[in-house]
Amino acid sequence: MIVRDNDFFNEYVRVWDEGALKDAPFITLGIEVILKDFYGDLLDAPPPFPVTGKERILDLGCGWGRVLKPVLDRNADAVGLDISHNMLTLTRQHLDKQGRNAPLLQGDGTRLPFKDNSFDKVYSLLVLQHLSKANGKAVFSEVHRILKPGGVAYIRVPGRFAPENFLFSFLQFVSIHLFRVKDPIRMRFYRLGEIKKITGKMYKEVSITAHEFRPPWNFHTRWTWQYILIPRSFHRRLRKISDWFEAKANGRFPFLKHFGVVLMVKVTK
Ligand SMILES: C[S@@+](CC[C@H](N)C(=O)[O-])C[C@H]1O[C@@H](n2cnc3c(N)ncnc32)[C@H](O)[C@@H]1O
Repeated sequence: MIVRDNDFFNEYVRVWDEGALKDAPFITLGIEVILKDFYGDLLDAPPPFPVTGKERILDLGCGWGRVLKPVLDRNADAVGLDISHNMLTLTRQHLDKQGRNAPLLQGDGTRLPFKDNSFDKVYSLLVLQHLSKANGKAVFSEVHRILKPGGVAYIRVPGRFAPENFLFSFLQFVSIHLFRVKDPIRMRFYRLGEIKKITGKMYKEVSITAHEFRPPWNFHTRWTWQYILIPRSFHRRLRKISDWFEAKANGRFPFLKHFGVVLMVKVTK
């Protein structure tokens, strides 16, 4: 990883390690983990991409194994990698409890410890947002290196222009630049054009879908995450509106993709 200063890397890993011990579901998913009427039960969700048979799959930034488990359920030959030792300990415990097993490695997505052309599929959910632009680009390049020709990667990042993310960026800007809060895992939000620019020359095919079109209610800073701004009775109705926008954005009105909270980038080598 390219780091800003000597302490940065240790600080960065420490936040994940401590987060794993304190509240792994929250540090990996944020408030989504408790808003079940809106998001469904994300702790027991199927993978947001197809998994077929005996593919060799890498979960890059596997966290506590939330998605690795359902991927293994679908008979994949999967490997988990994470920069945090404590996250990997949680993954091992989670898989053991569910009677599943997979190789788990501590490593950095910008310098993957795998041979060229060795995976059919790679996925990385909610990891790139914590990396600088240069490190994000390095991850895309490393993923390209380890994918087999024709292999596919699914990389999920937050979109820049969703109202919720806009508000989050603003509050983050204020806390970092005005209140001088040090946040090594600060969030980066991606533009569609930026993703295409990074991946377009590297990959044979790139497609981006947008997901979650919700109001700016979810700013999970350390101080605000427990406050739910919209009463629960509205959550199911909001879900329907979000699904409607999602269908339009990924269908007839692609300009709406710019406003998706989450972007799923599918790249093919
Ligand atoms: C927001 S969590 C998402 C976890 C998991 N992908 C999920 O969706 O539940 C981000 C994870 O990425 C890991 N991570 C952060 N930077 C990384 C890097 N450079 N290389 C590998 N893992 C990294 C963190 O330790 C953490 O477990």
